[in-house]
Amino acid sequence: MKLSENKATLSFSNGSPSVELPVYQGSVGPDVVDIRKLYAQTGMFTYDPGFLSTASCQSAITYIDGDKGELLYRGYPIEQLATNCDFMETCHLLLYGNLPDAADKADFTKRVTHHTMINEQMQFFLRGFRRDAHPMAIMTGLVGALSAFYHDSTDINNPEHRDISAIRLIAKMPTLVAMAYKYSAGQPYMYPKNNLSYAGNFLHMMFATPCEDYVVNPVIERALDRIFVLHADHEQNASTSTVRLCGSSGTNPFAAIAAGVACLWGPAHGGANEACLNMLEDIQKMGGISKVGQFMEQVKDKNSGVKLMGFGHRVYKNYDPRAKLMQETCKEVLASLGLENDPLFKLAMALEKIALEDEYFVSRKLYPNVDFYSGIVQRAIGIPVGLFTAVFALARTVGWIAQLNEMIGDPEYKIGRPRQLFTGSVRRDVLPIAQR
Ligand code: SDX
Repeated sequence: MKLSENKATLSFSNGSPSVELPVYQGSVGPDVVDIRKLYAQTGMFTYDPGFLSTASCQSAITYIDGDKGELLYRGYPIEQLATNCDFMETCHLLLYGNLPDAADKADFTKRVTHHTMINEQMQFFLRGFRRDAHPMAIMTGLVGALSAFYHDSTDINNPEHRDISAIRLIAKMPTLVAMAYKYSAGQPYMYPKNNLSYAGNFLHMMFATPCEDYVVNPVIERALDRIFVLHADHEQNASTSTVRLCGSSGTNPFAAIAAGVACLWGPAHGGANEACLNMLEDIQKMGGISKVGQFMEQVKDKNSGVKLMGFGHRVYKNYDPRAKLMQETCKEVLASLGLENDPLFKLAMALEKIALEDEYFVSRKLYPNVDFYSGIVQRAIGIPVGLFTAVFALARTVGWIAQLNEMIGDPEYKIGRPRQLFTGSVRRDVLPIAQR
């Protein structure tokens, strides 16, 4: 970042001395007012719950222009990456800042492939869960538990430890997600196969059984790989900010990523894909497209607490570019499976059309986000709805790790420790119980 010639001056109507604050510029996007010295100079904090106007860090990884509906990973538009690259290239880009050439891609892929197995002891953690445990409950536990197996690489301040932890986490997430699924299905775990692609290996571990050979469907393999690319990173969203804050204490990478998994689970965040699919199924049960108008009235009634899941975004005030790509992927997968007339997809398209013409949504700039179509395509692939957010976590792990490593590698970073506006009781003395 570079110091702007522009300065911010904060003045107070009560006659307190005004304060001049430096303004910094990035390479693109809003400038920032540096308030780091504000408390020392004024004895006041800024107030921004939800961080609507707060930059928590400087980053060179992902840029979003919410007004244009633009998403860039290290400067490359998501539309070009989703069309011309695969997830391994995208991981290399997010982690190291550049797209690999063929040799680097082969080396990176080989490193990831040879870390896909997990310690055999890990399977005993699953036995502690009920078979119907939510996969995200299992994933939160398993990812944190990984730190128990890699004492050789948990020093987050050691660049080599950060790199091998990144490879291990990217490599092992598909294995863990597939194990969570197999455990719920009561089927035996399938070991990774090194001759399969990253997405193909996940499909194999999910849907193969020891009873017969499993053939990966190339259309589904490519679609799943694209889903991973679309979910890989997204600036300082809630779960990434959680990973950064957790990692800022110097804890190990596995624990920090486990915190990200826990945060992503929420329905306002990564849990929205599961909530969206359930919403579509509920509308379908109500009567389908003919009931959309009635459902939309509920959404617009503040007292109903009903939201159109998969719609709206803190940053995008235009169409989420990922949603458009996800819709295309949806069409490709449904067509290849002969499900062009999938009722939920038709219902989703109808909902989108109605919402985009409705004043309530137009005035609030509410558009479909990444979660609106991802559930439909995952369901068509055969992934159970409870696993959708775990798949999101699988894909986002590379973004979390890249952002964590960027923070730890930043000489300016400190442990995150926000302050507060205190509104509770001022000092008072404890009375003996007889006098209370
Ligand atoms: C992800 O941050 C990221 O980058 C996240 C993510 C990523 O890749 O990491 O993109 C992934 O989490 C996508 C978002 C998935 N969540 C959902 O689809 C859940 C439904 N969406 C909403 O909960 C909401 O839109 C949020 C949480 C996504 C954004 O909430 P904000 O920014 O706090 O906006 P808001 O709640 O203040 O909404 C502004 C207005 C409000 O109405 P008013 O008070 O102005 O009258 O829009 C309304 C909201 O009630 N609104 C919705 C709505 N989303 C917002 N009304 C109906 N349905 C919705 N989905």
